[in-house]
Amino acid sequence: MTEELLAFLEASPTCFHAVDNIRGILMENGYTELREAAGWELQEGGKYFTVRNGSSLIAFQIPTKQYTGFMIGASHCDSPAFKIKENPEIVSGGYTRLNVEGYGGMLCGPWFDRPLSIAGRIVVRTENGLETKTVDLDRDLVMMPSLAIHMDRGANKGHEYNIQKEMCPILGQEGEAGILMRMVAEEAGVKAEDILGHDLFLYARVKGTVWGKDNEFVSCGHLDDLQCTYGDLQGFLKAHPAQSVPVLAVFDNEEVGSMSKQGAFSTFLEDVLARIHIACGRSEEERRAVPASSFMVSADNAHAVHPAYMEKADPVNRPQMNKGIVIKYSANQKYTTDAVSAAVFKELCTRAEVPYQIFTNRSDMVGGSTLGNLSNVHVSLNTVDIGLAQLAMHSPYETAGTKDTQYLADVMALFFSSSLHTGAPGCYTIR
Ligand code: CO
Repeated sequence: MTEELLAFLEASPTCFHAVDNIRGILMENGYTELREAAGWELQEGGKYFTVRNGSSLIAFQIPTKQYTGFMIGASHCDSPAFKIKENPEIVSGGYTRLNVEGYGGMLCGPWFDRPLSIAGRIVVRTENGLETKTVDLDRDLVMMPSLAIHMDRGANKGHEYNIQKEMCPILGQEGEAGILMRMVAEEAGVKAEDILGHDLFLYARVKGTVWGKDNEFVSCGHLDDLQCTYGDLQGFLKAHPAQSVPVLAVFDNEEVGSMSKQGAFSTFLEDVLARIHIACGRSEEERRAVPASSFMVSADNAHAVHPAYMEKADPVNRPQMNKGIVIKYSANQKYTTDAVSAAVFKELCTRAEVPYQIFTNRSDMVGGSTLGNLSNVHVSLNTVDIGLAQLAMHSPYETAGTKDTQYLADVMALFFSSSLHTGAPGCYTIR
Protein backbone atom coordinates (compact mmCIF):
# COMPACT_ATOMS: atom_id res chain seq x y z
CA MET A 1 0.00 0.00 0.00
CA THR A 2 3.03 2.32 0.44
CA GLU A 3 3.47 2.93 -3.31
CA GLU A 4 -0.20 3.93 -3.61
CA LEU A 5 0.13 6.13 -0.51
CA LEU A 6 3.12 7.94 -2.04
CA ALA A 7 1.26 8.49 -5.32
CA PHE A 8 -1.64 9.99 -3.34
CA LEU A 9 0.68 12.22 -1.28
CA GLU A 10 2.60 13.50 -4.29
CA ALA A 11 -0.66 14.32 -6.08
CA SER A 12 -1.92 16.20 -2.99
CA PRO A 13 0.33 19.24 -2.40
CA THR A 14 -2.56 21.13 -0.72
CA CYS A 15 -5.85 20.25 0.99
CA PHE A 16 -7.71 21.30 -2.20
CA HIS A 17 -5.80 18.71 -4.23
CA ALA A 18 -6.27 16.06 -1.54
CA VAL A 19 -10.04 16.60 -1.62
CA ASP A 20 -10.05 16.54 -5.46
CA ASN A 21 -8.17 13.23 -5.39
CA ILE A 22 -10.51 11.70 -2.80
CA ARG A 23 -13.47 12.89 -4.88
CA GLY A 24 -12.01 11.09 -7.92
CA ILE A 25 -11.41 7.85 -5.99
CA LEU A 26 -14.94 7.92 -4.51
CA MET A 27 -16.53 8.52 -7.93
CA GLU A 28 -14.56 5.60 -9.40
CA ASN A 29 -16.07 3.51 -6.60
CA GLY A 30 -19.67 4.43 -7.33
CA TYR A 31 -20.15 7.38 -5.00
CA THR A 32 -22.38 10.29 -6.03
CA GLU A 33 -21.56 13.88 -5.12
CA LEU A 34 -24.31 15.77 -3.30
CA ARG A 35 -24.23 19.56 -3.34
CA GLU A 36 -24.72 21.23 0.02
CA ALA A 37 -26.88 23.90 -1.62
CA ALA A 38 -29.33 21.38 -3.17
CA GLY A 39 -31.95 19.02 -1.70
CA TRP A 40 -30.84 15.46 -0.88
CA GLU A 41 -32.70 12.27 -1.82
CA LEU A 42 -30.96 9.22 -0.40
CA GLN A 43 -31.62 5.61 -1.45
CA GLU A 44 -31.04 2.47 0.58
CA GLY A 45 -27.73 1.05 -0.61
CA GLY A 46 -26.73 4.48 -1.94
CA LYS A 47 -23.18 5.83 -1.68
CA TYR A 48 -22.69 9.59 -1.39
CA PHE A 49 -20.29 12.39 -0.50
CA THR A 50 -20.39 16.13 -0.16
CA VAL A 51 -17.65 18.76 -0.14
CA ARG A 52 -17.49 22.07 1.72
CA ASN A 53 -15.16 24.87 0.55
CA GLY A 54 -13.33 22.47 -1.77
CA SER A 55 -11.20 21.52 1.25
CA SER A 56 -13.32 19.32 3.55
CA LEU A 57 -15.22 16.19 2.49
CA ILE A 58 -17.73 13.83 4.12
CA ALA A 59 -18.68 10.52 2.47
CA PHE A 60 -21.23 7.94 3.63
CA GLN A 61 -23.25 4.88 2.63
CA ILE A 62 -26.88 4.18 3.50
CA PRO A 63 -27.08 0.41 4.10
CA THR A 64 -30.59 0.80 5.52
CA LYS A 65 -32.75 3.82 6.29
CA GLN A 66 -33.45 2.15 9.66
CA TYR A 67 -29.76 2.49 10.62
CA THR A 68 -28.92 2.31 14.32
CA GLY A 69 -25.85 4.55 14.40
CA PHE A 70 -23.01 6.32 12.63
CA MET A 71 -19.50 4.88 12.50
CA ILE A 72 -17.37 7.93 11.78
CA GLY A 73 -13.70 7.93 10.75
CA ALA A 74 -12.27 11.45 10.85
CA SER A 75 -8.88 12.85 9.84
CA HIS A 76 -7.46 16.11 8.48
CA CYS A 77 -6.10 17.04 5.07
CA ASP A 78 -4.30 20.34 5.79
CA SER A 79 -0.61 20.62 6.71
CA PRO A 80 1.59 23.40 8.09
CA ALA A 81 2.95 25.44 5.18
CA PHE A 82 3.59 28.96 3.95
CA LYS A 83 0.75 30.88 2.35
CA ILE A 84 1.31 33.43 -0.42
CA LYS A 85 0.14 36.89 0.62
CA GLU A 86 -1.71 39.40 -1.55
CA ASN A 87 0.61 41.44 -3.82
CA PRO A 88 3.28 38.78 -3.35
CA GLU A 89 6.34 40.18 -5.10
CA ILE A 90 9.05 41.85 -3.01
CA VAL A 91 11.50 43.28 -5.58
CA SER A 92 14.82 44.49 -4.17
CA GLY A 93 18.58 43.94 -4.36
CA GLY A 94 18.37 42.28 -7.77
CA TYR A 95 15.95 39.59 -6.55
CA THR A 96 12.22 38.96 -6.67
CA ARG A 97 11.03 37.25 -3.48
CA LEU A 98 7.54 36.11 -2.54
CA ASN A 99 5.81 37.55 0.50
CA VAL A 100 4.54 34.63 2.61
CA GLU A 101 3.08 34.02 6.05
CA GLY A 102 2.99 30.86 8.14
CA TYR A 103 -0.01 28.50 8.17
CA GLY A 104 0.08 26.30 11.27
CA GLY A 105 3.11 25.38 13.35
CA MET A 106 5.84 24.12 11.01
CA LEU A 107 9.44 23.09 11.65
CA CYS A 108 11.17 25.94 9.77
CA GLY A 109 14.68 24.54 9.27
CA PRO A 110 13.86 21.80 6.73
CA TRP A 111 12.21 24.31 4.36
CA PHE A 112 15.62 25.83 3.50
CA ASP A 113 17.83 24.81 0.58
CA ARG A 114 15.39 22.56 -1.23
CA PRO A 115 13.25 23.16 -4.32
CA LEU A 116 9.76 24.42 -3.54
CA SER A 117 6.73 24.99 -5.70
CA ILE A 118 3.33 26.65 -5.39
CA ALA A 119 -0.16 25.12 -5.46
CA GLY A 120 -3.66 25.84 -4.19
CA ARG A 121 -6.85 27.28 -5.60
CA ILE A 122 -7.86 30.41 -7.43
CA VAL A 123 -11.26 32.01 -8.02
CA VAL A 124 -11.68 33.31 -11.55
CA ARG A 125 -14.21 35.64 -13.19
CA THR A 126 -15.89 33.85 -16.12
CA GLU A 127 -18.85 34.57 -18.43
CA ASN A 128 -21.00 32.46 -16.10
CA GLY A 129 -19.88 33.99 -12.82
CA LEU A 130 -17.08 33.09 -10.45
CA GLU A 131 -15.36 29.74 -10.82
CA THR A 132 -12.89 27.98 -8.51
CA LYS A 133 -9.94 26.08 -9.98
CA THR A 134 -7.15 24.11 -8.31
CA VAL A 135 -3.68 24.90 -9.64
CA ASP A 136 -0.23 23.42 -9.20
CA LEU A 137 2.76 25.13 -10.79
CA ASP A 138 4.46 21.71 -10.47
CA ARG A 139 8.06 22.70 -11.16
CA ASP A 140 11.15 23.56 -9.12
CA LEU A 141 10.28 27.23 -8.83
CA VAL A 142 11.34 28.91 -5.59
CA MET A 143 13.98 28.39 -2.84
CA MET A 144 14.84 29.69 0.64
CA PRO A 145 18.67 29.70 0.63
CA SER A 146 20.38 29.59 4.04
CA LEU A 147 22.82 32.27 5.11
CA ALA A 148 26.38 30.95 4.73
CA ILE A 149 28.09 29.71 7.90
CA HIS A 150 30.82 32.35 7.38
CA MET A 151 28.27 35.11 7.97
CA ASP A 152 26.72 33.50 11.02
CA ARG A 153 29.24 31.53 13.05
CA GLY A 154 26.52 30.75 15.58
CA ALA A 155 24.26 29.11 12.97
CA ASN A 156 24.70 25.63 14.46
CA LYS A 157 24.01 26.78 18.01
CA GLY A 158 20.26 27.27 17.72
CA HIS A 159 18.42 29.73 15.54
CA GLU A 160 15.21 31.67 15.91
CA TYR A 161 13.50 31.82 12.51
CA ASN A 162 11.85 35.01 11.28
CA ILE A 163 9.40 34.20 8.50
CA GLN A 164 9.14 37.77 7.20
CA LYS A 165 12.90 38.29 7.07
CA GLU A 166 14.34 34.90 6.11
CA MET A 167 11.61 32.68 4.70
CA CYS A 168 10.19 34.73 1.83
CA PRO A 169 11.52 32.51 -0.97
CA ILE A 170 13.40 33.71 -4.05
CA LEU A 171 11.34 33.52 -7.25
CA GLY A 172 14.06 34.90 -9.53
CA GLN A 173 16.27 37.84 -10.40
CA GLU A 174 14.83 41.27 -11.13
CA GLY A 175 11.16 40.99 -12.06
CA GLU A 176 8.13 43.12 -11.38
CA ALA A 177 4.86 43.11 -9.49
CA GLY A 178 2.25 40.73 -10.87
CA ILE A 179 4.66 38.15 -12.28
CA LEU A 180 3.51 35.30 -9.99
CA MET A 181 -0.18 35.75 -10.78
CA ARG A 182 0.67 35.80 -14.51
CA MET A 183 2.42 32.43 -14.08
CA VAL A 184 -0.54 31.06 -12.12
CA ALA A 185 -2.94 32.37 -14.80
CA GLU A 186 -0.93 30.74 -17.58
CA GLU A 187 -0.91 27.41 -15.72
CA ALA A 188 -4.68 27.62 -15.16
CA GLY A 189 -5.42 28.79 -18.72
CA VAL A 190 -7.06 32.03 -17.60
CA LYS A 191 -6.24 35.77 -17.70
CA ALA A 192 -4.34 37.18 -14.71
CA GLU A 193 -6.77 40.09 -14.40
CA ASP A 194 -9.64 37.59 -14.03
CA ILE A 195 -8.12 36.00 -10.90
CA LEU A 196 -10.09 37.65 -8.11
CA GLY A 197 -9.00 35.43 -5.21
CA HIS A 198 -6.35 32.89 -4.31
CA ASP A 199 -5.34 30.48 -1.56
CA LEU A 200 -1.86 29.46 -2.69
CA PHE A 201 0.77 27.65 -0.61
CA LEU A 202 4.41 26.69 -0.90
CA TYR A 203 5.17 22.98 -0.89
CA ALA A 204 8.43 21.02 -0.92
CA ARG A 205 9.12 19.32 -4.25
CA VAL A 206 10.90 16.28 -2.94
CA LYS A 207 9.78 12.83 -4.08
CA GLY A 208 8.61 10.41 -1.44
CA THR A 209 10.95 7.53 -0.68
CA VAL A 210 11.00 4.14 1.03
CA TRP A 211 14.20 3.49 2.98
CA GLY A 212 15.89 1.58 5.80
CA LYS A 213 17.69 -1.78 5.74
CA ASP A 214 14.39 -3.63 5.43
CA ASN A 215 12.54 -0.83 3.62
CA GLU A 216 10.73 -0.23 6.88
CA PHE A 217 10.38 3.56 6.58
CA VAL A 218 8.53 5.89 4.23
CA SER A 219 9.33 9.61 3.99
CA CYS A 220 7.31 12.29 2.22
CA GLY A 221 5.53 15.56 2.87
CA HIS A 222 2.03 15.62 4.42
CA LEU A 223 2.15 12.19 6.14
CA ASP A 224 0.48 14.12 8.98
CA ASP A 225 -2.31 13.58 8.31
CA LEU A 226 -2.83 12.25 4.79
CA GLN A 227 -1.40 8.87 5.85
CA CYS A 228 -4.42 8.51 8.16
CA THR A 229 -6.78 9.97 5.56
CA TYR A 230 -5.55 7.42 3.01
CA GLY A 231 -5.78 4.49 5.45
CA ASP A 232 -9.29 5.57 6.49
CA LEU A 233 -10.31 5.89 2.83
CA GLN A 234 -9.03 2.42 1.92
CA GLY A 235 -10.88 0.93 4.89
CA PHE A 236 -14.03 2.87 3.96
CA LEU A 237 -13.98 1.54 0.38
CA LYS A 238 -13.72 -2.06 1.64
CA ALA A 239 -16.52 -1.76 4.21
CA HIS A 240 -19.66 -3.92 4.12
CA PRO A 241 -22.00 -2.07 6.48
CA ALA A 242 -25.31 -3.61 7.53
CA GLN A 243 -26.89 -1.64 10.37
CA SER A 244 -24.85 1.52 10.84
CA VAL A 245 -23.94 4.29 8.43
CA PRO A 246 -20.19 4.45 7.78
CA VAL A 247 -19.03 8.07 7.54
CA LEU A 248 -15.63 9.17 6.23
CA ALA A 249 -14.87 12.74 7.35
CA VAL A 250 -11.83 14.66 6.10
CA PHE A 251 -11.42 18.13 7.56
CA ASP A 252 -9.40 21.20 6.62
CA ASN A 253 -7.91 23.64 9.13
CA GLU A 254 -6.91 21.22 11.90
CA GLU A 255 -3.46 22.82 11.95
CA VAL A 256 -4.93 26.22 12.84
CA GLY A 257 -7.44 25.07 15.44
CA SER A 258 -10.35 23.73 13.29
CA MET A 259 -12.44 26.88 13.83
CA SER A 260 -13.50 27.66 10.28
CA LYS A 261 -16.70 27.02 8.34
CA GLN A 262 -15.21 23.75 7.05
CA GLY A 263 -13.08 22.67 10.05
CA ALA A 264 -13.90 19.96 12.57
CA PHE A 265 -15.30 22.60 14.96
CA SER A 266 -17.77 23.81 12.29
CA THR A 267 -21.32 22.54 11.75
CA PHE A 268 -20.25 20.51 8.68
CA LEU A 269 -20.50 17.04 10.25
CA GLU A 270 -23.57 18.00 12.31
CA ASP A 271 -25.26 19.34 9.17
CA VAL A 272 -24.51 16.21 7.13
CA LEU A 273 -25.76 13.83 9.85
CA ALA A 274 -28.93 15.90 10.33
CA ARG A 275 -29.61 15.85 6.59
CA ILE A 276 -29.14 12.05 6.48
CA HIS A 277 -31.77 11.76 9.23
CA ILE A 278 -34.19 13.99 7.38
CA ALA A 279 -33.65 12.30 4.00
CA CYS A 280 -34.14 8.87 5.61
CA GLY A 281 -37.40 9.97 7.20
CA ARG A 282 -36.24 9.52 10.78
CA SER A 283 -37.89 11.32 13.69
CA GLU A 284 -36.36 14.07 15.79
CA GLU A 285 -36.34 11.71 18.78
CA GLU A 286 -34.44 9.09 16.79
CA ARG A 287 -32.01 11.77 15.71
CA ARG A 288 -31.24 12.48 19.37
CA ALA A 289 -30.99 8.76 20.22
CA VAL A 290 -28.66 7.62 17.45
CA PRO A 291 -25.43 9.25 18.78
CA ALA A 292 -25.59 6.92 21.82
CA SER A 293 -25.11 3.99 19.42
CA SER A 294 -22.52 5.76 17.29
CA PHE A 295 -18.75 6.00 17.48
CA MET A 296 -15.95 8.18 16.10
CA VAL A 297 -12.35 7.28 15.37
CA SER A 298 -10.38 10.53 15.25
CA ALA A 299 -7.18 9.65 13.37
CA ASP A 300 -4.18 11.98 13.39
CA ASN A 301 -0.57 10.94 13.32
CA ALA A 302 1.30 10.34 16.58
CA HIS A 303 4.89 10.82 17.73
CA ALA A 304 7.15 7.77 17.51
CA VAL A 305 9.88 7.74 20.14
CA HIS A 306 12.96 9.51 18.70
CA PRO A 307 16.24 7.60 19.24
CA ALA A 308 18.18 10.79 20.04
CA TYR A 309 15.52 12.17 22.38
CA MET A 310 14.24 9.20 24.39
CA GLU A 311 13.81 11.58 27.34
CA LYS A 312 11.03 13.43 25.47
CA ALA A 313 8.77 10.36 25.60
CA ASP A 314 6.69 8.97 28.44
CA PRO A 315 8.81 6.52 30.48
CA VAL A 316 6.61 3.55 29.54
CA ASN A 317 4.32 4.38 26.61
CA ARG A 318 6.71 4.84 23.68
CA PRO A 319 5.18 4.27 20.24
CA GLN A 320 7.32 2.77 17.50
CA MET A 321 6.78 2.84 13.76
CA ASN A 322 5.46 -0.42 12.24
CA LYS A 323 4.13 -1.58 15.62
CA GLY A 324 0.50 -0.78 14.91
CA ILE A 325 -2.15 1.81 15.64
CA VAL A 326 -1.31 4.34 18.37
CA ILE A 327 -4.13 5.01 20.84
CA LYS A 328 -3.66 8.51 22.34
CA TYR A 329 -4.60 9.41 25.90
CA SER A 330 -4.78 12.75 27.68
CA ALA A 331 -6.34 13.16 31.14
CA ASN A 332 -7.48 16.70 30.32
CA GLN A 333 -9.28 15.38 27.21
CA LYS A 334 -7.07 17.04 24.60
CA TYR A 335 -7.50 13.54 23.24
CA THR A 336 -10.99 12.09 23.57
CA THR A 337 -9.94 8.54 24.47
CA ASP A 338 -11.48 7.20 27.68
CA ALA A 339 -12.02 3.75 29.13
CA VAL A 340 -15.10 3.06 26.99
CA SER A 341 -13.74 4.30 23.67
CA ALA A 342 -10.36 2.64 24.23
CA ALA A 343 -12.08 -0.67 25.01
CA VAL A 344 -14.24 -0.51 21.88
CA PHE A 345 -11.26 0.33 19.68
CA LYS A 346 -8.96 -2.31 21.21
CA GLU A 347 -11.68 -4.91 20.67
CA LEU A 348 -11.92 -3.89 16.99
CA CYS A 349 -8.12 -4.10 16.59
CA THR A 350 -8.06 -7.55 18.15
CA ARG A 351 -10.81 -8.79 15.85
CA ALA A 352 -9.02 -7.28 12.82
CA GLU A 353 -5.70 -8.82 13.99
CA VAL A 354 -4.11 -5.37 13.98
CA PRO A 355 -1.54 -4.49 16.69
CA TYR A 356 -1.99 -1.37 18.80
CA GLN A 357 0.19 0.64 21.16
CA ILE A 358 -0.23 3.61 23.50
CA PHE A 359 0.81 7.27 23.45
CA THR A 360 0.62 9.67 26.33
CA ASN A 361 2.60 12.86 26.78
CA ARG A 362 5.14 13.07 29.56
CA SER A 363 3.30 14.43 32.58
CA ASP A 364 5.60 17.46 32.63
CA MET A 365 5.09 18.34 28.96
CA VAL A 366 2.20 20.02 27.17
CA GLY A 367 1.35 18.06 24.03
CA GLY A 368 -0.67 18.82 20.92
CA SER A 369 -4.37 18.32 20.47
CA THR A 370 -6.39 17.23 17.47
CA LEU A 371 -9.85 17.38 15.96
CA GLY A 372 -11.71 14.77 18.04
CA ASN A 373 -12.47 16.87 21.10
CA LEU A 374 -13.50 19.89 19.01
CA SER A 375 -15.76 17.82 16.75
CA ASN A 376 -17.37 16.39 19.89
CA VAL A 377 -18.66 19.82 20.87
CA HIS A 378 -21.15 19.76 17.98
CA VAL A 379 -21.53 16.00 17.42
CA SER A 380 -21.13 14.39 20.85
CA LEU A 381 -20.49 10.66 20.87
CA ASN A 382 -17.99 8.09 22.12
CA THR A 383 -14.70 8.91 20.40
CA VAL A 384 -11.19 7.49 20.41
CA ASP A 385 -8.11 9.44 19.32
CA ILE A 386 -5.59 7.35 17.42
CA GLY A 387 -2.77 7.85 14.92
CA LEU A 388 0.15 6.23 13.16
CA ALA A 389 3.60 6.65 14.67
CA GLN A 390 5.93 9.04 12.84
CA LEU A 391 9.04 11.16 13.25
CA ALA A 392 9.68 14.79 12.24
CA MET A 393 6.05 15.84 12.58
CA HIS A 394 5.40 19.18 10.80
CA SER A 395 8.59 19.01 8.77
CA PRO A 396 7.96 19.29 5.00
CA TYR A 397 9.52 15.79 4.83
CA GLU A 398 8.18 13.45 7.51
CA THR A 399 8.96 9.80 8.27
CA ALA A 400 6.57 6.94 9.10
CA GLY A 401 6.44 3.14 9.04
CA THR A 402 5.64 1.22 5.83
CA LYS A 403 3.41 -1.34 7.59
CA ASP A 404 1.15 1.03 9.49
CA THR A 405 -1.07 2.37 6.68
CA GLN A 406 -2.28 -1.17 5.96
CA TYR A 407 -2.94 -1.75 9.66
CA LEU A 408 -5.16 1.34 9.72
CA ALA A 409 -6.98 0.31 6.53
CA ASP A 410 -7.63 -3.16 7.99
CA VAL A 411 -9.07 -1.99 11.32
CA MET A 412 -11.09 0.77 9.63
CA ALA A 413 -12.61 -1.69 7.11
CA LEU A 414 -13.90 -3.65 10.12
CA PHE A 415 -14.93 -0.47 11.98
CA PHE A 416 -16.93 0.91 9.04
CA SER A 417 -18.66 -2.49 8.65
CA SER A 418 -19.62 -2.66 12.33
CA SER A 419 -22.30 -1.19 14.55
CA LEU A 420 -22.28 -0.38 18.23
CA HIS A 421 -25.20 -1.39 20.42
CA THR A 422 -25.82 -0.10 23.92
CA GLY A 423 -27.52 -2.42 26.38
CA ALA A 424 -27.76 -1.94 30.13
CA PRO A 425 -25.98 1.21 31.38
CA GLY A 426 -22.28 0.93 30.60
CA CYS A 427 -22.72 -2.19 28.44
CA TYR A 428 -21.84 -2.25 24.73
CA THR A 429 -21.74 -4.86 22.01
CA ILE A 430 -20.02 -4.48 18.66
CA ARG A 431 -21.59 -6.35 15.74
CO1 CO B 1 -2.11 16.15 12.38
